[in-house]
Amino acid sequence: MVKICCIGAGYVGGPTMAMIALKCPDIQVVVVDIAVPRINAWNSDNLPIFEPGLDEVVKACRGKNLFFSADVERHVADADILFVSVNTPTKTQGLGAGKAADLTYWESAARMIADVSKTDKIVVEKSTVPVKTAEAIEKILNVNHNGIKFQILSNPEFLAEGTAIEDLKCPDRVLIGGRETPEGKKAIQALKDVYARWVPEDRIITMNLWSAELSKLAANAILAQRISSINAMSALCEATGADVTQVAHAVGKDSRVGSRFLNASVGYGGSCFQKDILNLVYICECNGLTEVANYWKQVVHINDYQKARFVKRVVSSMFNTVSGKKIAILGFAFKKDTGDTREAAAIDVCHGLLGDNAKLSIYDPQVAESQILKDLSMNKFDWDHPLHLQQYMDPSEISKSVSVVSDAYEATKGAHGVCILTEWDEFKELDYKRIYDGMHKPAFIFDGRNVIDVDALRKIGFITYSIGKPL
Ligand code: NAD
Ligand code: UGA
Repeated sequence: MVKICCIGAGYVGGPTMAMIALKCPDIQVVVVDIAVPRINAWNSDNLPIFEPGLDEVVKACRGKNLFFSADVERHVADADILFVSVNTPTKTQGLGAGKAADLTYWESAARMIADVSKTDKIVVEKSTVPVKTAEAIEKILNVNHNGIKFQILSNPEFLAEGTAIEDLKCPDRVLIGGRETPEGKKAIQALKDVYARWVPEDRIITMNLWSAELSKLAANAILAQRISSINAMSALCEATGADVTQVAHAVGKDSRVGSRFLNASVGYGGSCFQKDILNLVYICECNGLTEVANYWKQVVHINDYQKARFVKRVVSSMFNTVSGKKIAILGFAFKKDTGDTREAAAIDVCHGLLGDNAKLSIYDPQVAESQILKDLSMNKFDWDHPLHLQQYMDPSEISKSVSVVSDAYEATKGAHGVCILTEWDEFKELDYKRIYDGMHKPAFIFDGRNVIDVDALRKIGFITYSIGKPL
């Protein structure tokens, strides 16, 4: 029986390993993590992450060929194939702070693998890492090798949160990069054999290590660039009376462009787009490619501009001040169908409104109060450094101006304005007449996701603003 172990039981490690276990009943899969509460949650009825369809997959395999354990070293020592899916955050200190990837977690995992291994292993980079990381990992692994052979593969993950199970069941492609030596090719084939159980052969792409590592950064940068492009266009639409939805439709109809990922929004969020582009920028700078670095920097810059523009629109529409006014925030997660708030646009928007002394009443169907207060009191980039002391502002200061409530009607009651910051389906179905009746007048609604029917809301009496739409 092939034994797989994955280091890191997070948003990637958990679902990807559950899918491998489901599709390969003859393979034993163990997911390990140093975070004991996370492992306990994976072994409970309340999984640590919310992802449609994940519960069913985990329940079908857990205890059969899928295991979650905090006994990291034992399972690492036992494995034939080791996936490493630890976090690779943006550095907060030292050289490259604010841009470069912090490989502390990766390096400590690699050192532990080198220490405990007694048999040959394939080590798979599942985390998103800077190009050439495999070279550094090889050095660490081979320094104390005692005759043990390690083959490093790059197998970046392309799942998106909220659709992770579907993405894993039916991926557009699986990428495997490896050394172009006989041993490297053998390792590539071994991993290919795992995916080939359910992924059609023509969707499994193999290439050299550096191309695979860079392809992941390139894919995220280009996806984020599409969003920044349409968001930049949304500002021009507002200035000219064009409608960004119509413009995106027209542009996306060109088969060379395609229609997906052209939804204008308050700004992209999520744990990876910003981090991976900043990482790319840093790599370009290190290679002396200043113009290329500046090009990609602009994608992040437009995203920050879009969030700041939204805040400015709210404040300026509401007679240039929101001081003491109640603003309802509908949606805090970085997108619908996830409870993940990492780099959510809502965090920056809330900070902007709090900066103008607003009173916020926040509702999200999947995000707990403790998470929201933690996010609003944490410094930029600190959220992804669980092993270091995370830096917080005083959370009691935040809770003086922020309340977290359990439904949209409570959030909007007595509010002067409403901001929709996540495109949850339930926000399309709300009784907006009821909401209007319970609000101060004039009642403002700012739709950061273009989910509301503007005409219907204007008929009710709302003053509405949508991204990239005629005012
Ligand atoms: P995460 O923070 O949810 O999970 C990482 C886990 O690794 C944590 O539970 C942490 O405790 C654990 N960990 C850290 N160091 C460890 C060590 N030395 N030993 C054992 N466990 C350790 O992160 P994630 O969202 O799953 O992302 C993981 C990687 O995958 C990142 O590089 C990310 O860029 C990439 N990625 C993420 C997504 C996504 O949708 N979240 C998609 C594709 C790729
Ligand atoms: C993204 C990529 O889509 C995945 O392929 C990749 O594996 C992953 O990053 C990663 O490396 O972490 P994810 O961040 O989970 O996945 O979610 P997306 O669906 O890409 O959305 C990212 C952000 O962009 C969200 O805030 C979303 O609301 C926003 N978005 C997306 C828009 O504003 N407009 C769009 O048209 C699409």
